[in-house]
Amino acid sequence: MQVFETIAAFRTARKGYAALGFVPTMGFLHEGHLGLVRRAKAENGAVAVSIFVNPTQFGPNEDYASYPRDPDRDLALLKDAGADLVFLPTPDVLYPPGFATRIEAGGVADELEGQSRPGHFSGVATVVTKLFNIVQPQRAYFGQKDAQQCAVVRRFVADLDIPVEIVVCDIARETDGLARSSRNVRLTPENRQKAPALYEALQEAARLFRSGERNTDVLEGALRVSLIKAGLPDIDYATVVNADTFRREGSCSENALALLAVKAGAVRLIDNMPL
Ligand code: PAF
Repeated sequence: MQVFETIAAFRTARKGYAALGFVPTMGFLHEGHLGLVRRAKAENGAVAVSIFVNPTQFGPNEDYASYPRDPDRDLALLKDAGADLVFLPTPDVLYPPGFATRIEAGGVADELEGQSRPGHFSGVATVVTKLFNIVQPQRAYFGQKDAQQCAVVRRFVADLDIPVEIVVCDIARETDGLARSSRNVRLTPENRQKAPALYEALQEAARLFRSGERNTDVLEGALRVSLIKAGLPDIDYATVVNADTFRREGSCSENALALLAVKAGAVRLIDNMPL
């Protein structure tokens, strides 16, 4: 496994690979990321991973400074998972003095996370586009946990004619159902116990949907009740949307997607489930 901090050195090494899968990450890797790395390796023969906590996708009052970081541990995990190339830039490598360009993501990017976190998807679109230009992969792998991010990436890749196939992989969960996330380590023991309630709330909505319920108010009400009962009342959104548009419909279509964003103490958790 080769590790590079500069764009020039990465590009030189990249020339040695005909095909490359790519997993962009913000580090503090968990089994969800490692599953993406293994799948990318199996499907492309070789895999590149980036580790970069991207400042432009964090709002001023968000957790950029406290986002967990441990590059040495990440590199050991990536070596075991079979990564070939790792790109580990510092912020000034990707955003040197004078940097002044941002991609404005629209459409699905304007909904939900886009409203709660203004500028977030523009930061994601900008850094992912830069990483695609540097890594030049055939395929890039993202986790379904960030369902809206996946839809935003698919949109700008199509709109900007970027020749990368986007592969979306299932959510990796802990045994109690909590979606794996780098932020989970920051949960207090008490909130860690409550956190599987997100998955349970989604399962409850899915049960109702299977039994024929299509009224969005009713499904959203069930999500909220489950979360509040579990001691997680700080709900940013608990909603059911059309999975293509990320817009809410009064009566759910067959491709309904339930999405949650909930604060558990200082940690904002997200999760989702197709109904
Ligand atoms: O999902 C993430 O970890 C980040 O949003 C990404 C795609 C690596 C861009 O910074």
